[in-house]
Amino acid sequence: MANPYFDKIAWLYPIIGFLRIKNKFYKNIKKFTNPDSIVLDVGGGTGIIAELLVNDIKEITILDPSKNMLKKIKSKKIKKLLGSAENIKFKDKTFDLVYCVDSFHHFTNSYEKSEHKRIIQKCLRELIRILKPKGKLLIIEFDNKSKIGKIIEYFENRIMKWHSNFYNPEGLESLFKNYKTKIHKINTYCYMLEVNLNH
Ligand SMILES: C[S@@+](CC[C@H](N)C(=O)[O-])C[C@H]1O[C@@H](n2cnc3c(N)ncnc32)[C@H](O)[C@@H]1O
Repeated sequence: MANPYFDKIAWLYPIIGFLRIKNKFYKNIKKFTNPDSIVLDVGGGTGIIAELLVNDIKEITILDPSKNMLKKIKSKKIKKLLGSAENIKFKDKTFDLVYCVDSFHHFTNSYEKSEHKRIIQKCLRELIRILKPKGKLLIIEFDNKSKIGKIIEYFENRIMKWHSNFYNPEGLESLFKNYKTKIHKINTYCYMLEVNLNH
């Protein structure tokens, strides 16, 4: 299931890409890759981050439920897959790196609040299932304890009624109790959670 809104606002993304601190996001993710990396960008939308990363690694796929967002991807080297984090159509242990930039909090859009816990757990299982034994999951999110994070949360949930789920860094980290994790501060309102698999 998807938030149908992204199909309607895909045209805005060249502007959003311009405003976004995409180089900071890119640099934080690139540190965890090498030229042989097989990577999945979950909720990668129009490819703002994948376009920067594509020449540094072996292969990258964007998984996104919005057809119109995927249509805006320019690079022919980026593979596209229409689909959602709840049910990822890849075999177990496929990727060296899976990352989500500004998408994790959207995974509960289109679900009632009573379903959120179950959906989040389902997404987490999927994100981990498709990682290779020494793979990494990186999640870049807005900190909902910061001023800007609070404004974004207010906009998405109170105005747009999207049912987004925001976390502060420790809150997101607590979802991954069985894994080795590390919080990287990106700026005053964004952070990246690194989740290490050793299975
Ligand atoms: C704010 S955009 C971010 C796009 C991209 N990561 C970027 O940084 O430009 C959020 C993206 O999450 C996607 N999305 C929403 N629900 C999703 C789900 N359940 N699974 C995967 N992606 C989802 C949307 O379609 C949209 O492209």
